Amino acid sequence: MMTVGIAYVLVEELLRERLPRRWAHTQGVAACARKLAPLVDDRAKALEAAAVLHDIGYAPPLVNTGFRPLDGARHLRTIGSVDDRVARLVANHSFALLEAEQRGLREALEAEFPVVDDEQLADALVYCDMTTTPDGAPDNCR
Ligand SMILES: [Fe+2]
Repeated sequence: MMTVGIAYVLVEELLRERLPRRWAHTQGVAACARKLAPLVDDRAKALEAAAVLHDIGYAPPLVNTGFRPLDGARHLRTIGSVDDRVARLVANHSFALLEAEQRGLREALEAEFPVVDDEQLADALVYCDMTTTPDGAPDNCR
């Protein structure tokens, strides 16, 4: 199983030089996830892993459909060592279903990556993503 530490290494390698702003944002989202750890108890590692991996689909080598949550989650499935719940969180983060609908990808997204049956965990990831600036400052994550 992929550890959170390995997730950081993987995403840093894909984003740091190619998309430094996205890498900074990713680190901010992960920092927010660590702050929320007490709220999610034994799911803290899954939340942090999903936070680190949530925008991996922006990495140019992974772009396929151009819909980042789906491209990223599909890549995570090919790696094979990523917890399925984490891949599904990545696929559905931040209201991805709505954008998938606009792109004609909703059926594919739902079929391949059903929404995680843990609303608190999914909401925590959205909260971290939405309260972190594009430059990575977790300004509103408290
Ligand atoms: Fe994000």
